[in-house]
Amino acid sequence: MASLGVNIDHIANVRQARQTIEPDPVPLALLAEVGGADCITVHLREDRRHIQDRDLKLLKETLKTRLNLEMAMTNEMVEIALNVSPDMVTLVPEKREEVTTEGGLAVTKNEKDFKKVLEQIQRPGIPVSLFIDPVQEQLEAAANIGAKWVEIHTGHYANASWADRPKELAKIKEGTAIARSLGLRVNAGHGLTYQNVEPVAAIEGIEEFNIGHSIVSRSIAVGLKEAVREMKNLINNPRQDPLFGI
Ligand code: PXP
Repeated sequence: MASLGVNIDHIANVRQARQTIEPDPVPLALLAEVGGADCITVHLREDRRHIQDRDLKLLKETLKTRLNLEMAMTNEMVEIALNVSPDMVTLVPEKREEVTTEGGLAVTKNEKDFKKVLEQIQRPGIPVSLFIDPVQEQLEAAANIGAKWVEIHTGHYANASWADRPKELAKIKEGTAIARSLGLRVNAGHGLTYQNVEPVAAIEGIEEFNIGHSIVSRSIAVGLKEAVREMKNLINNPRQDPLFGI
């Protein structure tokens, strides 16, 4: 049975929209663990648009499960990873202008640099996963440079038209089989939702799914009614405040 990594970046997105302290992704990550998350995933982006350095540090101190740090392959991020020592680093491509991660890493184009960073992070024992498309050459390049893990990009499947979806699903299935035959361990994620996850979850050989946007969206849907009820209750039954005497 595959495990679930919950990506909490979008909780931090709501906080950053107001530059305030809530919602705080750290205690909410603990709630996700109570709900059954096997791992908490965060992407510390260069521009710090959602997750902040403080979140990463506190998550490392407080999580009961595992911390998976998604990051770009930069000197700054490598230094942070070595300081924080998460349970896994997932290397992802990062462009400032993108809304979310687009496409997988081009490992074939830059094997030397990937190998260097992989060795730097793996030296103290931090496992590294490479976020790549289910493409044979990329998987072979990942194995070639000494990666032990890959995360297969499921975004093309998630965004495919109904007609193209079986083709994209087959690519994920085939990519998983190739990765396993190369001795790689396989995670998967991006764009997975309550509506499209099941066919991917049925693929043998995928160990963990990283899912964020859909879970955070659903939490608003299932929690909104109660949140409104609580606010209405406060407005209708205000407590006397002893400090202000009102
Ligand atoms: N895996 C990786 C490598 C990602 O970059 C992301 C998005 O941050 C996810 C999984 C989760 O994607 P989503 O938010 O679409 O579930």
